[in-house]
Amino acid sequence: MTHTTSNSLSFAKLSILSLATFGLLDAGYLSYEHATGTIPQCSVGFLASDCGSVLQSSYSQIFSIPLAYIGVIYYLTILTVTLLTLNPKTKFVDRLLYPISAGGFFASLYFMYLQIFVIGAICLFCTTSAFISTVIAGVIWLIMTRERVDTISFATKIGYQRVLKPLLFTHKPQTVHIGMTNVGELLGKCLITRTFMSWLYDYDSSKLCQAYHGVHFSSPVGLAAGFDYNAQLTQILESMGFGFQTIGTITNKPCQGNPDPQLGRLIQSQSLMVNKGFRNPGADTVITKLAKHEMFGQIGVSIGTTNTSDIQTVEDAVIDITETFKKFEHSTLSHSYYELNISCPNLQTSIDFYNVDNLSVLLQGVHKLNITRPIWVKMPISVTNDQFDAILETLAQEPLIVGIIVGNLQKDRTAEPLQADEVNQFTVGNFSGKPTWNRSNELISRAYGTYHERFTIIGCGGIFSAEDAYTKIRLGASLVQLITGMIFVGPQLIGSINLGLEELLQRDGFNHISQVIGIDTVKK
Ligand SMILES: Cc1cc2nc3c(=O)[nH]c(=O)nc-3n(C[C@H](O)[C@H](O)[C@H](O)COP(=O)(O)O)c2cc1C
Repeated sequence: MTHTTSNSLSFAKLSILSLATFGLLDAGYLSYEHATGTIPQCSVGFLASDCGSVLQSSYSQIFSIPLAYIGVIYYLTILTVTLLTLNPKTKFVDRLLYPISAGGFFASLYFMYLQIFVIGAICLFCTTSAFISTVIAGVIWLIMTRERVDTISFATKIGYQRVLKPLLFTHKPQTVHIGMTNVGELLGKCLITRTFMSWLYDYDSSKLCQAYHGVHFSSPVGLAAGFDYNAQLTQILESMGFGFQTIGTITNKPCQGNPDPQLGRLIQSQSLMVNKGFRNPGADTVITKLAKHEMFGQIGVSIGTTNTSDIQTVEDAVIDITETFKKFEHSTLSHSYYELNISCPNLQTSIDFYNVDNLSVLLQGVHKLNITRPIWVKMPISVTNDQFDAILETLAQEPLIVGIIVGNLQKDRTAEPLQADEVNQFTVGNFSGKPTWNRSNELISRAYGTYHERFTIIGCGGIFSAEDAYTKIRLGASLVQLITGMIFVGPQLIGSINLGLEELLQRDGFNHISQVIGIDTVKK
């Protein structure tokens, strides 16, 4: 479905203007009759009603103000606000339509209840007004998707920033993470909650849909590997506006991860310290669990080496990784793609896949599996440009590798905007969020410059807004992924990015997201 932008005269807004004009005429007529002390002629054909009983009842006024006058004010307000939304300079008033129309709807419900059950008479004009305000609320709440998602995202952002986040951030990050993923899993189990979440946050736009390597992405924004390492969110995230989602990293054998701390918050640095070390339940458990229910949206599986000191050689690691691929490939799951994670910076195994000889052995092992789904490789960012180029050159030889994700966590403890006092709380781990931003952008551009025809790039690292996602796309990313931004900004971020991307495209005169991919990078 194509959505019109909020400051154009859409069919929905034309309907609201027409309905509010009828409502104004209706309430205006009742006000005139009230002012002149007359009771309106209340029967139209076979529709007989008793306006006198209703309009002369004690319920026809609130604080001595006749309801007819309040009706005039209500419809004038709806008309004024809707007209203001047509001007780009005052379109922010869109959000006012939601509380105002909801107020009109609930007041109408109450007045209908009074007429039917308390006064015992119906006034045709009052009922017409109740009908009009109900339809207006219906158009605003059900049809104006863009404005609805924008308004609800705005309200959620305030609630998250002012109430929920301060509360959640008083608890250990690991505890909050487990709690939130459990809530997400519960919400995903039920059709009603999924539909409701989708109504709140999911904004689909034909300008943002893309298809790569046989996978259809309804939005360019995905969840990066690491958040859903237990594969609990495969039913709910599509309703939150995500175009795709990676579970894992999953390993062949279950793994408890590294010794604590596995996670920390660096609030000033807008970052998380990550030392999970591939904590996950293992491929067999994940497959058994996911096979029990339907998954929604495009799901990818991130695969890495089991984090154990038992894995001593490159051959051990290759066998371990290819076993996991085989398990997923031979399962009945409906996942769409894989990520091959060669870049986890905090493992007990010392196998180094940045070494291109080792990487070639791994790619040969994966090649033999005849995998049918596309594979993206999760790239490190804490490497030199030469190392990065060498890895890309090796990956480019393997046809199963369709793209790269740039990239993983930041190892450099002095990267901007990391604050020394926050970093020094942790002797272990690597950093997500804003400290990954600059390097990930440099490397996206570097990869796109040379490999724009060979690799589909997924940009990842430090995305906290639509502008951030847009920057990565303009540098060469076809899709983007995030985790930390959602934790710092709130769960509404995905819907906001989708809305914001559409606005940025419009601002710059583009019709589709694919037109801006790589336009800020010089191709080699
Ligand atoms: C809590 C956490 C766990 C992560 N675990 C993984 C992982 O298992 N596999 C992986 O490829 N990346 C993992 N990452 C890295 C992210 O996928 C992503 O590359 C990085 O956080 C940068 O994105 P962000 O700034 O949007 O968080 C993890 C990140 C976080 C915050």
